Amino acid sequence: MASVEPAGRVDGPRAGADIELDGVSRYYATDGGLRIDALHDVSLRVGAGESVAVMAPSGAGKSTLLHVLGAMDRPDRGSVVVDGVDITRLRRRQLVRYRRTVGFVFQRFHLLPALNALDNVLAPVMPYRTNFDKVARARELLELVGLGARHDSVPSRLSGGQQQRVAIARALINRPRLLLADEPTGNLDSVTGEEVMDLVTSLVTEEGMKMLVATHDAGVAGRCERHVRLRDGMVEDDTNPR
Ligand SMILES: Nc1ncnc2c1ncn2[C@@H]1O[C@H](COP(=O)(O)OP(=O)(O)O)[C@@H](O)[C@H]1O
Ligand SMILES: [Mg+2]
Repeated sequence: MASVEPAGRVDGPRAGADIELDGVSRYYATDGGLRIDALHDVSLRVGAGESVAVMAPSGAGKSTLLHVLGAMDRPDRGSVVVDGVDITRLRRRQLVRYRRTVGFVFQRFHLLPALNALDNVLAPVMPYRTNFDKVARARELLELVGLGARHDSVPSRLSGGQQQRVAIARALINRPRLLLADEPTGNLDSVTGEEVMDLVTSLVTEEGMKMLVATHDAGVAGRCERHVRLRDGMVEDDTNPR
């Protein structure tokens, strides 16, 4: 697989984002009037270049944490400071810009079924003017994930592992500083999951990103130097905290 030359960047330095969560809580109300603490008073500092596995059983708050970090969700309390900016206070336009510095990979791939692989990779930048050649970069990324020859295939013609590779290429189109992966191998068999994680790990290193990966899988977590365990929305354990 060829390495991709920088084709332009969105914003700021490329050494991976510096993240500081302070007292972050996210509550949901149930129909019965009870409160679910999806995140409760989570404080976490992640230095630039550090990769983190967020490990926890189902329902412990992993996805909520990733959504808050990607500014897809706003916490009810606390601050989330990324490279010196509290993203919980951003206005709409700034939020859109911030989200473009984050790549997201989902368990269920979330590709658009009617679009071919190339157009799926292009989708996040289609509405925007970019300072790089979008199509050239999308093609390079498909090459990079080993799917250069499949640019014209729609998702239903691709295997699960191939779909996740397309999703990874899509996550990288904006040259994000932060890659958030929510159980990225959860829908893949173990061999394919390993291959996908080999790819993600090498891309994270090559592209100088920071990665946070939510996972149940010890093999996935083993690729990160730092392990944060959540339980009932709280940090239960944190190896190598800084
Ligand atoms: N939109 C929502 N509405 C109500 N409850 C939610 C919502 N999203 C998450 N929750 C609840 O918050 C808790 C944490 O969910 P989540 O972050 O998805 O956990 P995980 O990703 O670790 O499985 C769970 O109890 C879940 O049911
Ligand atoms: Mg989840």
